[in-house]
Amino acid sequence: MLDLVKELQKEVAGFVPSGKDDLDTFRLKYLTKKGVIGKLFSDFKLVDNKDKKKFGQEINNLKKSAEAKFKEYQNCFNKSPSSTKDDFSKPVSLDGLGSRHPISIIKNEIISIFNSIGFKLSDGPEIEDDWHNFSALNLPEEHPARDMQDTFFIQQNPDVLLRTHTSSVQIRHMTSNKPPIRILSPGRVFRNEAISSRAHCIFHQVEGLYIDDGVNFSDLKQTLLYFAKKMFGEKTKIRLRPSYFPFTEPSAEVDIYWGLKSESDYRITKGTGWLEILGCGMVDPNVLENCGIDSEKYSGYAFGMGVERIAMLKFGVKDLRLFFENDIRFLKQFSSL
Ligand code: DAH
Repeated sequence: MLDLVKELQKEVAGFVPSGKDDLDTFRLKYLTKKGVIGKLFSDFKLVDNKDKKKFGQEINNLKKSAEAKFKEYQNCFNKSPSSTKDDFSKPVSLDGLGSRHPISIIKNEIISIFNSIGFKLSDGPEIEDDWHNFSALNLPEEHPARDMQDTFFIQQNPDVLLRTHTSSVQIRHMTSNKPPIRILSPGRVFRNEAISSRAHCIFHQVEGLYIDDGVNFSDLKQTLLYFAKKMFGEKTKIRLRPSYFPFTEPSAEVDIYWGLKSESDYRITKGTGWLEILGCGMVDPNVLENCGIDSEKYSGYAFGMGVERIAMLKFGVKDLRLFFENDIRFLKQFSSL
């Protein structure tokens, strides 16, 4: 029996774990009650009385060295990644991977739906001038509708501002391209509004514009119906309500039928079952002319939507501020998308 103890001592002394699992096998073999040392202790009563002292000392030594060995490597494997003893050749753990922001997820979804029916991306600056953001869009100075969009002006110059909508990109595109035009402009917009669960001073819009020979209102309606079905499901119903935007005539707001199944459905749809998702209309001939496009020859439609609003509806997010706080507990929930 003493031979066995000696052999185990040698084994322990020479043990170098290749990893955490290996160390765990070691722990199970030596340091648990049912392990080899535990067994030696229970066999202790079988040892001759005269050998008991020596034998006892040897098993205790074995136990101590096994414990020391385990501690030594346990610390080593638990060390932080900054430790110089780390094995940098090991495969990277995927646990720490981030997730796409919900606003990016929805923005990309909107883009891919419209890409599939021929809309190409067009970009514009976030710092705009008055003409692109207002005047060319049929919002001359002193127009009361300017008040609908509380504007951030830069410095004291009223001609330099943060765009209040991505409609400014349609002006930029129309002034430098000839019809047919079929573009989509996603981007950040800014409004001097009080921050609440439903509004923020920075948010995201996607603007769409289609100009060609003979484009009419039914083209607009079918395109938006296609979008709504792709975004909210094949059974989605839409309705168009007459509205007013200075840059479109006629103008409409588009609602989707959300239903009235739960109490919260009543609350968010104000008891109607319908929810507004975007604004749209036929581009006002004045806007076409402002951009050098012959309004006798061409017509077109435009639409604009808030990405946060669509994301709130799709993901059931009740407070818009969550999109801007970057709380990891919120963002982590979108990691599978
Ligand atoms: N620019 C509008 C807004 O920010 C949204 C919008 C409405 C865009 C109708 C359009 C449109 O192109 O036709 O509230």
